[in-house]
Amino acid sequence: MARIFSGIQPTGQKHLGNFIGAITRYVEWQDRGEGIYCIVDLHATTVAYEPKVLRSGLYDLAALMLAAGLDPERAIFFRQSDVPEHAELQWLLTSVTAYGELQRMTQFKDKSAKQELVSAGLFTYPVLMAADVLAYRADTVPVGDDQRQHVELMRNVAERFNARFSEQLVVPEGVYPEIGARIMDLSDPGSKMSTTGSTEKGTVYVLDEPKTILKKFKSAVTDSDNEVRYAPADKPGVSNLLEILAVARGTSVAALEGEFTRYGDLKAAVGEAVVDYLAPVRERYADLRADEAQLEQTLGAGAEKARAIASEVVADVRDAMGVGPVRARV
Ligand code: AMP
Ligand code: TRP
Repeated sequence: MARIFSGIQPTGQKHLGNFIGAITRYVEWQDRGEGIYCIVDLHATTVAYEPKVLRSGLYDLAALMLAAGLDPERAIFFRQSDVPEHAELQWLLTSVTAYGELQRMTQFKDKSAKQELVSAGLFTYPVLMAADVLAYRADTVPVGDDQRQHVELMRNVAERFNARFSEQLVVPEGVYPEIGARIMDLSDPGSKMSTTGSTEKGTVYVLDEPKTILKKFKSAVTDSDNEVRYAPADKPGVSNLLEILAVARGTSVAALEGEFTRYGDLKAAVGEAVVDYLAPVRERYADLRADEAQLEQTLGAGAEKARAIASEVVADVRDAMGVGPVRARV
């Protein structure tokens, strides 16, 4: 049985890209194997942030994920900082991570350009991400396209550890959605929808009001040749709309291409489909978000299950590295 791990940051309002590229897939995958899903609050401390906003953002995201259908009875759902083994394993893994490898990370280059203080944490962010996954010997990592380089790095780290010390770690595989791995900004379809970089008009938030969603799609940027055809390189705006519609309706892009002759009809159809697609989440969200004590309890129970796994793996790693006393075997 597959062991699936993914992490998501408790920062900013979650948008349609996060929802399609990550959250809905956690929900789908929770039946395909043993799912372990983590809200990575330690990763969120690597750039400038406000402690109060971080905490409330964590509850926002926990409620959103539960509203989307993540079931804490079927999957392990927890907060990263509740399991200290993640931070410990990060340190241990820095010894098999190359400095040059971290310097090549494009996300580090992008994010550091925007920071007044470029923290050492931002630089070692991918090692913490590797630790998140490797601490569970997970084999499958569902993420969006922008995480490919980080997944490649964790594979290298695991392989290097196994070769240098002993075969303790599982080398994980990234899995990316066939459609929707890279949802683009509706107003600027050359760049991806993102928490910090994309335009307000072109970013659809999961909890946007239906009329806001319709408006954002109505003003989506397309092109001037008036042909509804899927061609991401030549027609990024139209192709993005077709992908979003395919996901929201649960169909394929090919099935949709013949349906529309006018861009206006396509935009209206995508807007309506997305409103319907997100409606159940909106309906469930408020009640879940209102009860922080319940959210804490859910996360706490998840952390206990997570820790039972991670503490064993980290003990094996320490032992293999000669750190601490020889591990007693039972
Ligand atoms: P983050 O909010 O940066 O923690 O991202 C959470 C998840 O959403 C990761 O798996 C990302 O790969 C995914 N993601 C972020 N932006 C997009 C996007 N525009 N399209 C598809 N997936 C995305
Ligand atoms: N870096 C990921 C992102 O920005 C979040 C993340 C942290 C993650 N740890 C992870 C994703 C482990 C997958 C597995 O989206």
